[in-house]
Amino acid sequence: MKADFLLKNAQLATPLGSPEFVPAKFIVIENAVLAAHRGKIVFVAENNKEASEIELEESAQVIDCNGKTVTPGFVDCHTHPVFHGTREDEFEMRVMGKTYEEIARSGGGIKASVRSLKQASKDELLAEMLPRLDRFLSHGTTTIEAKSGYGLSVEDELKSLEVICEANRVHSLDLVATFLGAHEVPDEYQSNRSDYIDLVIKEMMPLVQNQKLADFCDVFCESHVFNVEESRKILQAAKDLGFGLKIHADQLTHNGGTALAAELGAVSADHLEFSTEKDWQDMLDSQVVPVMLPGAVFFLGKDRYAPAKRMLESGLPVAIATDFNPGTYMSESMPLICTLSCLKLKFTPAQAFTAVTYHAALAINRGNLLGTLEVDKEADLVIWDVPNYKYIPYHFGANLAQTVVKSGKIVWKNESPEYTKY
Ligand code: NIG
Ligand code: FE
Repeated sequence: MKADFLLKNAQLATPLGSPEFVPAKFIVIENAVLAAHRGKIVFVAENNKEASEIELEESAQVIDCNGKTVTPGFVDCHTHPVFHGTREDEFEMRVMGKTYEEIARSGGGIKASVRSLKQASKDELLAEMLPRLDRFLSHGTTTIEAKSGYGLSVEDELKSLEVICEANRVHSLDLVATFLGAHEVPDEYQSNRSDYIDLVIKEMMPLVQNQKLADFCDVFCESHVFNVEESRKILQAAKDLGFGLKIHADQLTHNGGTALAAELGAVSADHLEFSTEKDWQDMLDSQVVPVMLPGAVFFLGKDRYAPAKRMLESGLPVAIATDFNPGTYMSESMPLICTLSCLKLKFTPAQAFTAVTYHAALAINRGNLLGTLEVDKEADLVIWDVPNYKYIPYHFGANLAQTVVKSGKIVWKNESPEYTKY
């Protein structure tokens, strides 16, 4: 078999894909060899087995890992990366005692980002987003799901999704777009919210679908944003148009969003801090992937984390993501999320890695392509300068990703001394 990329002497730490809807196994292969051809993994073996059948092409990239740890690239399955300007003043207000909800009621929060985004051109939005994508990549993330949702008008939602598509074209990170026109009800529709829902369903969605600007449609389902009835209407219309479904559910109260995800066959239900055992059974029955966002709980200074460990123990392939956004979680670092998952959700490092790779790939319908280091998967991987994978969540706050590979090509190298020693 032909190969244009070869890793030797690697300590491979990876989940194993499964055709069943169950938590994946996680294994470590010592002295591993991994070969890829045209972006796809074609060979994996232990004990530096020299694969006689591998035919290395002349220009092949060969890397001796010298025992370093290699993991799949992270899949960040929930991010809001298109925004103009930042909200550090709100961060300061929260530190001084105001709640996120109080800040939102006084005109801050999502609405502040909506006002700013209207002022920005596509070029400006792209220029602000690219360094964020560099930071995702430099911390080992090779694919993100990226939501619109700070536009809330036909023009500004399309503008946001076009920026995501353009970023996907020009940047090595892969972006999977989600239309989140139902992120908030804009001020001008407060007294006629059903007109905004009609605008989302009748104008925005068909345009987004015709221009193939997004794979998924998401709704912020919360009693003070879009209630369950409104969310059902929006998501049903999206399903009829062929979108995959996602939902921000049961984050601040238990209001039925998770049950709705199961009813409509959503690909994922996200947040779930207030979900119940009945919701978990519904997700199992309908194969909805639960996505935990412990960073947002942490960054909002709250202490009610989703019961993620119990969901995992009930047989759900629990995914974890950053929720990167300018309000409730401003960090692109997935290693930091792994640390929070261990400390706050009580996931073992292996469970955390599985949640941010393979289970996260399931949450964006890419389980057949991403999230494990197995034959036929995309050759998306990270070489870490650490003694073993458990070291990564343990040594928190440092970026220990040394080399990031996307589709069998090196796309990032962290070369400053901080990155070359642990
Ligand atoms: O996922 N939950 C809804 N939206 C974002 C918050 C966005 C913001 O504050 O700008 C979230 O946490
Ligand atoms: Fe979110």
